[in-house]
Order: sequence, then structure tokens, then C-alpha cells
Amino acid sequence: MCGIIGIASNKSVTSNIIQSLKKLEYRGYDSAGIATITKGEIDENKCTGRVDNLEKILFKNPSSGVLGIGHVRWATHGVPNQVNAHPHSSEEVSVVHNGIIENSSELKKDLEKKGYRFKSQTDTEVITFLLTDFLKNFDLINTINKTLEKLHGSFALGIIFKKYNNIVVGARRGSPLAVGYGHEENYLGSDSYALKSMTNKITYLDDGDICVLTNNKVEFYNSTNIKINKEVLTLSDDKHIAEKGDYKDFMSKEIYEQNITAKTCIKEYIDQLRGDINLYNFPIKPQEIEKIILIGCGTAYHACLTSKYWFEELTTIPIEIDVASEFRYRKLQFNKKNLYVFVSQSGETADTFAALDLCKKNNVITCSIINVVESSIARTSDFVLPIHAGPEIGVASTKAFIGQMLVLYILSLKISEARKEISKLDYIKKITELKTLPDLIKKTLECEDKIQVIAKDFLEAKGTIFLGRGSSFPIALEGALKLKELSYLHAEGYPAGEMKHGPLALIEEGLPVVVLAPKDKYFEKTISNMQEVIARGGKVFLITNESKNIISENIRFTLEISKTDDYLTPFLMTIPLQLLAYHVASLKNLDIDKPRNLAKSVTVE
Ligand code: F6R
Repeated sequence: MCGIIGIASNKSVTSNIIQSLKKLEYRGYDSAGIATITKGEIDENKCTGRVDNLEKILFKNPSSGVLGIGHVRWATHGVPNQVNAHPHSSEEVSVVHNGIIENSSELKKDLEKKGYRFKSQTDTEVITFLLTDFLKNFDLINTINKTLEKLHGSFALGIIFKKYNNIVVGARRGSPLAVGYGHEENYLGSDSYALKSMTNKITYLDDGDICVLTNNKVEFYNSTNIKINKEVLTLSDDKHIAEKGDYKDFMSKEIYEQNITAKTCIKEYIDQLRGDINLYNFPIKPQEIEKIILIGCGTAYHACLTSKYWFEELTTIPIEIDVASEFRYRKLQFNKKNLYVFVSQSGETADTFAALDLCKKNNVITCSIINVVESSIARTSDFVLPIHAGPEIGVASTKAFIGQMLVLYILSLKISEARKEISKLDYIKKITELKTLPDLIKKTLECEDKIQVIAKDFLEAKGTIFLGRGSSFPIALEGALKLKELSYLHAEGYPAGEMKHGPLALIEEGLPVVVLAPKDKYFEKTISNMQEVIARGGKVFLITNESKNIISENIRFTLEISKTDDYLTPFLMTIPLQLLAYHVASLKNLDIDKPRNLAKSVTVE
């Protein structure tokens, strides 16, 4: 999703803006642009497609400006073309924007009446003209606040002015924005990852904050024009450097890192000496929890769904799961004895953040399961459980999913133990088994060669179905999501028992169907559902940990994974499905790390 960079320096900023925009590429985008103040004028350059194209334009047409803003755009209002790319500039002002201005149509009509002529179809251009208009009568901070007052919706903004030619301004409401402090230069960025190569000193803006950067000073103001102080944080040194190394793309690197993700996470949460789970200062006594509500989007939602089976098996607490975009608009009865858990890799997902904000406004207890610990969701929730996966750059979430499930599993175990709902013996046994997970993941990754062969069968398919029961059902959903987002092939996940209620009509000769059937309490039933698919011509790819008792000559391929504790099986089932999506996309020559239309950090509603 859109990414913003701003730099105020005493030397040319173009090259640093381009390098920082490259760091933001992982968010997913379709066009890019930059504006600097060069020779006292706003100098704007934009392109469709990759930042590389922008770099070529700037190579031919260098800009010597010592301050500027840059942007990668993920289209919301208006097609992805050069005109709609950011920045949007007038003679006086240039703006980059992340978010959506919901009342842009009305604002545009008013501005047109005043004589402003719009070039683009974007919602952002209204900000440019509002600022230009208020500048005629107001000073800098008043101009900004008067503009922001007019805007409905969410935004993070980067702004430069012809008149104030030594400053970069940032403002935030609902979309993330950070300030970085350097040596004789200061920075603005959508996330700390983009700024990390330049500084580890960061301040996060809160909603309503404005920042004004020169090369040697940063000032903050609130919505009533009052100067405020903000905390400067030192970012943690990241051991997992976000470079591809020998891997072809980030996704394959991240898939192959999953045993390390599991190992690190287990090390962080399991006390090696006591063999117990560390969970200090938890914001609610587990014995007093009346209900747990788990909220997330996409893959994070699937992690929540998987954990429902663990919480329900291990505790007597009622569990509710919802996608954040639904939760935030429901008429809810909030309860101070409930625990509201928000799961998000980026910690910046707009829907998840809004759902958390709703809970905060209703004074209930919130906990977030997060990868980016400096993120808005982490900073806003009462309690944070990091997944310790390191930066995830591939748009399709892989190692973060494993990390999210792992923390949720650890949480369910600890809550069960604290409520005395699991016996001490079983608790210790489960922890001992958990410690074997990294090796089991590593072993499962060895199935890649087989998956490469299986993937060929999906190339000509017009669609595909993933089936599972119990905790394999959310994994089927996740497998289908991975396949559709990477290979653009229609894929649906269903609870295997639901097939006869409609989806069975889709089965025809040769349709690929992936069946997840571990040897658990659902095994026989899932196998029967599989036979129903085979009987109707479906081409079945079975993933199981118990192949010897399955008799069917008509299974196209059986992949055997390791037998382990039922609670750990979803982790292992996930791996072949990630690899399948990867290889189908790879055979189709698609952009693995940046699938079309998608963004890593979904900061719009
Ligand atoms: C799918 C994927 C998305 C994200 C979703 C939530 O591979 O990556 O479905 O899981 O956009 O993102 P986070 O976890 O950052 O809140």
C-alpha cells in the first residue's frame, strides 16, 4: 500500500529518496514519484510501474534539491497512470498521501468553484489545492490544520512548499507515519523499515500530530496549533537482515526460514530452565476471562481461526473470531472481562487498527500478536505478544503465519495451565512436543521437489478446491488464499463436510482438489469426503500423515508429512501449501514477491 518518504537535508536528496522508496516497494504499488524544491521551484517527476523507471527518469533529468518527498502509490481513486501518481503539486505546494479522503468529491466541487483545475482522478489533489488556498491567508501551521479539518477519512501526508523552502511537513490521521533523525538531515517515512538504513532514532506520529522537519531540527504540533514534545525511540538491531541472500525471491527465503521463526519464537516464550511458558504482566487474570475474541484480516484471520480449535480443546472459554473489517462495524456488547486479541504481521492494517481503536474506546482489555513491534497496533494495545519472525518482505505472508499460530498456541496452552484446565503432565508434554516443531518444519520443507511436480497439474486448471476438517479447515482456507494471491488461479477452501451442501456441484473431470487429512478425530470422515470427490472425477492431491490405511487407486498424488501431536499438525500442513502456491506462480512466471493488485501493509479501509 502507498508509501511515503520525505527528507530535509543540506545535500541533494534524490538518491536517498529513491533508495528509501525501494525499501517501501514490498508494500505493493503501481506507480511512483518524487518532488523536490530545486532552484526555488517545485520539481515533480512521476512514472507508472517500478521505482527503477523513476530512477531512469531522474538519471536523465537530475534534480539537485536538498529537500523533497517521494511516494509509491497503490491505486484507490483513479487508475494507475502517470497523472494519478503522487506527488500532486500546484505552483505552491506538493503533496504525497497514503489513505483515503472520503469527502473528496464535495471538496473538489467547492475548489472547482474557486477556480482550481484538477489534473488527476485522485482524492489527494484536493489536499494540494486546499493547502494552496489556505496559504493565501494563514501561516504554515494554521494552513495545515485548517486543511486537515476539512478532510474526512484517513491519511498520512508528506508536504513541501515553494514558500517555506527549507522544510518537509508530515501529518497523520489513521495511517502510519514516522520521523527519523539523522546527521544534518531528518526524515519522514511510512514505516521504520524504510528509514532503518539511514537512522535508528525514530518518533512515531499519533493521530492529529503534525511534524515540521528542517535538516537540523524537528518540531511537532497538535491539531490546536500547540507545539508538543514526542518521544524518540531507538530501534532494535534486527538480526534478521532483510536481504534475499542466495534465494531467488523473498518468499522462498521466508518459507525456508520458518524453522528458524519457530525456534526463535519458542526460545522467547519457553523458559528453558523451568520448561514453562513465560507470560509476565498479562493484562487479565486467565481465571477471570469470560470470553476471548480474536480479530485479524486475511492470513492473520486464518491464524485466529486455527487457534479457535486449540482454545476450545484446551480451555472452557468461549471463543469468537471475526475479520476486522466486519468486527469494526458490528453492534457489540463490550465486556471488561473479555480479552480482545488482535493479530497482525505489519501492525498497521487499517481495519485491524480500527477494530482495536473501537475496543480501546470501550475500555476493554486488548492484546496484540504482532511482528512489527514498533507498529501502531503494538503501540496502541494494552499488551503485546511479538512473533519474533523478523522482517517479512514477500507480500504473501508465510513465516508470519507460522509465528502467529505459534504465539496463539502458546497463549492457549498458558491460559489453560493458569486456569488449571490442562493437567500439569499434559502441559509439560505439550511443551516438550512443541520444542520439536522447528525440526519437523525443516523436515517438511524437504517435500519441495514433490510439490514442484504436483504444481504442473494446476497450470491448466480453471479452478481448485482445498478441503479440511477441524484445524485443517483454516489451513485449507490459507492454502487457497496463498494459491489465488500468487498464481491468480481461482481457489476456494471449504470444510470437507460442507461439500455436499453445494460446492460438490463444482467437481468435474480433472478439477484439482487438495485434501488435508491428518490422522485425527476427523480422519475417516475427511477420507469419505475425498472419495465423494474422486467418484465425481476430481483429481485429488492428498496431504496426510497416515497414508498406509488409505485405499484409493484414484488419488492423483499422496504427500506424507511427519506424524506429530495433533495440535502441531496445522503448522506442518501449511508448508506444502505455501510451496504449491509458490511453484504454480513460478511456473506461470509471475512476480512472486509482489502479486498484482496486492499490498503488504494494507493501510486503507
Ligand atoms: C496474505 C496476506 C494478507 C495479510 C492481511 C493482514 O498472504 O499477507 O492476507 O495477512 O492483509 O495483514 P497483517 O497481518 O499485516 O495485518
